[in-house]
Amino acid sequence: MHFPYSVAHDFPLVLAPMAGVSESPFRQICRRYGADVVVSEFISSVGISLGIERVLAEMRFEPVERPIGIQIYGADATIMARAAGMVTELFEPDFVDINFGCPVKKVVRNNGGSGCLKDMNLVRGIIRAVRDATQLPVTVKIRSGWDETQRDPVEIALRCQEAGAQALTLHPRTRTQMYQGAANWDEIAAVAQALTIPVIGNGDIRTPEDVVAMRHHANCAGIMIARGSFGNPWLFAEARDLLEGRANRLVHEGASVGVAATAATLRD
Ligand SMILES: Cc1cc2nc3c(=O)[nH]c(=O)nc-3n(C[C@H](O)[C@H](O)[C@H](O)COP(=O)(O)O)c2cc1C
Repeated sequence: MHFPYSVAHDFPLVLAPMAGVSESPFRQICRRYGADVVVSEFISSVGISLGIERVLAEMRFEPVERPIGIQIYGADATIMARAAGMVTELFEPDFVDINFGCPVKKVVRNNGGSGCLKDMNLVRGIIRAVRDATQLPVTVKIRSGWDETQRDPVEIALRCQEAGAQALTLHPRTRTQMYQGAANWDEIAAVAQALTIPVIGNGDIRTPEDVVAMRHHANCAGIMIARGSFGNPWLFAEARDLLEGRANRLVHEGASVGVAATAATLRD
């Protein structure tokens, strides 16, 4: 499957965008331990477009983090476009990712994040405006819908693709589910089958075996890992070894010295 950005493996393992977690030091550690792609925390398009220094600082990254996507959110297509243009000009990441998945109240109250999923015309307008505003690849991250009554990940994903999304990540829960229940991997399979752009599966990956199982179950183009990487950045390398049928590199030998030591290694 052809990704819109260059990536080292045909089946990439992606560190998920996570507010308060996927910051530059953690992204560097995960790249070091096998994440093929990393994504920033979600960044407010309003904050970017106003040029707020604290917000701009959240987007800084080191060259070793590439390929990296900067994830932006917002419910106003014009502001999203302006933000995408500024991200491109100021930081030149490898791609811009649009957040249509965030369930947090203060974001969805303004129709941002998964709030957009209630209005597919809005989703389409945002994707088109962002595509027009940047020459970088534009990807999207969605949930399966707003709630059970509006749950239709294939339809949502098809509309995103039509609007110009160049890759799509599905976290197969609705907004109302938040993080409850199991991620529905059948929905990842259905979306991967329906789309021609790469579909990255996300949800409930805790072990290398889970990576192999999701790939097998969903036939997706890549896998994104969020909570499974907490305190366990070597999950990426271990999963890669299992995917490629290699002996485990025991990358976490000396794990007891932990992430602090890893960070020190990175500095050296
Ligand atoms: C602490 C935390 C922060 C998150 N922040 C974001 C975010 O900024 N943008 C986003 O698209 N998803 C965010 N997510 C959702 C994750 O990217 C992912 O979709 C979700 O956790 C399911 O994957 P998992 O089962 O591997 O954790 C966040 C999740 C967590 C736990």
